Amino acid sequence: MSFQTGVGQRTAVVTGCASPRGIGFAVARRYAQEGWAVAMLDIDEAALKIAAEKVKSEFGQPVLAMHCNIGDKTSVDAAAKAVMESNLPPVGAIANVAGIPSPSSFLELSLEEWNRVYAVNCTGSFLVCQAFIPQMIEGGYGRIVNMSSVTAQHGGGVFSKTSYAAAKAGVIGLTRGLAREFAQYGITANAICPGVVDTDIRVGSTPENEAKLAEAVPMKRQCKPEEIAALYVWLSSADAGYITGTTQNINGGAYIA
Ligand SMILES: NC(=O)c1ccc[n+]([C@@H]2O[C@H](COP(=O)([O-])OP(=O)(O)OC[C@H]3O[C@@H](n4cnc5c(N)ncnc54)[C@H](O)[C@@H]3O)[C@@H](O)[C@H]2O)c1
Repeated sequence: MSFQTGVGQRTAVVTGCASPRGIGFAVARRYAQEGWAVAMLDIDEAALKIAAEKVKSEFGQPVLAMHCNIGDKTSVDAAAKAVMESNLPPVGAIANVAGIPSPSSFLELSLEEWNRVYAVNCTGSFLVCQAFIPQMIEGGYGRIVNMSSVTAQHGGGVFSKTSYAAAKAGVIGLTRGLAREFAQYGITANAICPGVVDTDIRVGSTPENEAKLAEAVPMKRQCKPEEIAALYVWLSSADAGYITGTTQNINGGAYIA
């Protein structure tokens, strides 16, 4: 299986990649491991600096770290401008990973929380795609991989309820729209729906809870961030050029009837 573009080195724009045990960091690492340059965007500036240094020193590929709030158009547009004016190769992949949970029950959910959760989990992917797709069209190669969740299909879970489910379901619609509109350029767009992944996103969860979540899955374990990362990078390869508009379930068999 190849993870290459077939058109030379390209830059992968990865959002939400500062958390050291998070999916985005694993995604950024895997792109660099496979020879991609990486533009790393995150709202946590201090952690991002450390994460970017690690990726750069481990794999020796060009890495640019940019403080960015993906829910804010000015911030995203500034990041896109910085990438365009940098020495990085053309943008070849957009890997939207950044997201936040929302544990509030529906009747307790404030409009403010709904808007915040939607802004990061769905609008953020819209803003990042709109800002960076022109660079992919110009570079002649493009892959978009967006982060949805099993929660979009289940309608919520223990740690993230309706606002998160709605935003992640929005990501699936956004992805299908992108796939349709940009197929004419050979640009693909796919969404990923992970089940429970072993990261720090479930703030306040106990080891007992975490074990219970793993026990509910046929594979009897949580997904590793590296397993999600492999899917992102493979969907960004030339080999995956005819896969578009899909929703990729990576959930350890959670949907076996
Ligand atoms: N962990 C899971 O079980 C799981 C399952 C399904 C989907 N997901 C999704 O995967 C993605 C990554 O989750 P994770 O578990 O690695 O989470 P995490 O909390 O470990 O990492 C999230 C990262 O996103 C960054 N971020 C948050 N808000 C941001 C913003 N406004 N702008 C830029 N960066 C921002 C954080 O600083 C952090 O580095 C999220 O979209 C999440 O919803 C996670």
